[in-house]
Amino acid sequence: MARQNLLPRTAPFGDGERASLDAVLGSATPVQRAWLAGFLAGLDAAGGQPAAVPAAPPKAAEPLTIVYASESGNSEALAGNVAKLARKQGFKPKVVDFSDLDVATLPKAGKLVAIAATWGEGEPPARAVRAYGELMGEGAPRIDGVEFAVLSLGDTSYAEFCAIGKALDARFEALGGKRAAERADLDLDFEKPAADWIKNTLKALAPAETPDNVVAVDFARAAAGEDDDAEPSREPLVVEVVEHVNLNSSRSDKETIHLALAFEDGAPAYEPGDSLEIFPENDPQLVDEILGAAGLSGDEALRKALLAERDITTLSAATVERFVKATGHADAQKLIDSGEARAWIEGRHLIDLLATFPATLTPEHLNTITRPLPPRAYSIASSRKEVGDEVHLAIVAVRYETHGRARSGVASVHVADRIRDGAKLRVRLKPNRHFRLPQDPATDIIMVGPGTGVAPFRAFVQERRAIEAPGRSWLFFGDRHFLHDFLYQLEWQEALEDGSLTKIDVAFSRDQPEKVYVQDRITHNAKELVSWLEGGAHFYVCGDAKHMAKDVRAAVVRAYETAKSLSPADAEAQVAALERSHRYQQDVY
Ligand SMILES: Cc1cc2nc3c(=O)[nH]c(=O)nc-3n(C[C@H](O)[C@H](O)[C@H](O)COP(=O)(O)OP(=O)(O)OC[C@H]3O[C@@H](n4cnc5c(N)ncnc54)[C@H](O)[C@@H]3O)c2cc1C
Ligand SMILES: Cc1cc2nc3c(=O)[nH]c(=O)nc-3n(C[C@H](O)[C@H](O)[C@H](O)COP(=O)(O)O)c2cc1C
Repeated sequence: MARQNLLPRTAPFGDGERASLDAVLGSATPVQRAWLAGFLAGLDAAGGQPAAVPAAPPKAAEPLTIVYASESGNSEALAGNVAKLARKQGFKPKVVDFSDLDVATLPKAGKLVAIAATWGEGEPPARAVRAYGELMGEGAPRIDGVEFAVLSLGDTSYAEFCAIGKALDARFEALGGKRAAERADLDLDFEKPAADWIKNTLKALAPAETPDNVVAVDFARAAAGEDDDAEPSREPLVVEVVEHVNLNSSRSDKETIHLALAFEDGAPAYEPGDSLEIFPENDPQLVDEILGAAGLSGDEALRKALLAERDITTLSAATVERFVKATGHADAQKLIDSGEARAWIEGRHLIDLLATFPATLTPEHLNTITRPLPPRAYSIASSRKEVGDEVHLAIVAVRYETHGRARSGVASVHVADRIRDGAKLRVRLKPNRHFRLPQDPATDIIMVGPGTGVAPFRAFVQERRAIEAPGRSWLFFGDRHFLHDFLYQLEWQEALEDGSLTKIDVAFSRDQPEKVYVQDRITHNAKELVSWLEGGAHFYVCGDAKHMAKDVRAAVVRAYETAKSLSPADAEAQVAALERSHRYQQDVY
């Protein structure tokens, strides 16, 4: 019997036509459907004339493995985009997170797309460390005959731009793979070039023998009315600042702003563990300095663009090269030719370049020299179950001095200095499905969040309070001084009283002669910590990636060594197993 309602109601046919098509398609075999799909696509390609010889049924869909190494989700999202387009083009895509990658399976991949971000100072994302190490190591398998293509994501403000993508690309070739498409190294404004790269790469990976006019269509998805292109909107939302409070005392040398943001039309459906991106504005004083140095003072349209749209601080090798190309500045050219540009850039910003190599620029020059101003991510510090249509953030103001100039972090100082209650901000949700509370609220959790790393744990505790989670919660917090830097101190005390927090251990590094950090508190509590983990607790780390996250991991390995009298290798294996089972999760930056 024919299946009813195979075509969605949105199909561009009348009711009678839809019923007729349902009758035919509902009883068609998969081969008949595929033939019809290919035939119709071919018909269109031939200008509506039937092909002389009807196209043969397409071959079984071509397997395509898409691996991604991602920390904050960009590469992961692009891997999903590759899979969607690949499916439409007749591939059978399989998407694999590096954290789940079995390197031994790669020789059988046939066709392989890798999308990799670079973190730290030229390091792989934390979840990718194991598989990346195996791939780079001596035991890596040959992948002779595998056709591969690599897309790398990075940020030109880092010296090791796209280092991991570059290394993977070279490694796949060294292991015998065949490069099907040239690697692209993309900066933070990657969306458009990534879409182009994906389109071209899939074309290059398509099997040569597949006739262009045969298109494999996933009828089940079409029948279910699934629309592959229905992406959640990436457009920023405008929110109102309803609370702006410095969480540090007035005697602290730090300034951490607690921001409460209200969404007029309801907050997006965020989960504890997600982040919110802020689209900042540049410091107006710096904008004016840059306009002055470029000989463009008084150009109001340009001033507006520089305030909100262009990255006017980052200085990268690419910026210097674009500057030289635009101006032909001989001394700046010499800097590049001498090979010293990379060292000179260190700690300097665009204003230093314009001040050191004076040149009169046009607005177009400034536009080509700079890149779009990227948004900054902040861990959400609230649960919707407790704060409704608000989002709370904790943002530490970044201020420092290099080469004799006071520098300000673009977004954090915009928030600290130029935003107050009632101000508007543009924001966008950045979900993170790799930093999630356990599904079972009875599961214990251990949270390590020094400084602003504590932000997502405020969301975790609020959420677990709201759902009356029976699992225990243990927080490790650290900062400089107990008296001045104990972020959300009263809230933790309340949480301890109402039971939504079971235990807190703190490390204030500068309250005594010897420095004490959260990892020291972990070491001090090794036995109890391991007993929680052995009982199934999930372990979370948020905050500084450069030192803290690595030191904490090492401390957990040592805790296993001491608590269970294990060798270093066996203790390491315990922590690696926690990571593989997603019970050790990090959100570090
Ligand atoms: C997933 C995620 C979650 C995050 N959550 C939070 C959060 O909850 N709270 C929070 O405050 N931040 C958080 N961050 C960091 C945040 O996104 C920004 O990177 C941070 O606020 C700095 O941005 P900015 O625009 O103020 O500074 P920028 O203008 O981007 O300047 C920062 C840069 O300045 C340079 N710099 C900084 N300090 C020094 C120094 N002492 N000497 C020399 N150079 C220096 C470094 O190159 C640094 O990259 C998070 C980041 C990520 C990726
Ligand atoms: C703390 C931090 C360190 C980073 N280090 C580098 C780096 O060394 N080199 C680079 O090219 N990009 C670096 N980046 C930029 C990321 O690679 C870039 O944001 C990328 O889009 C992230 O992709 P993902 O979301 O898939 O992790 C860094 C970003 C952050 C926040």
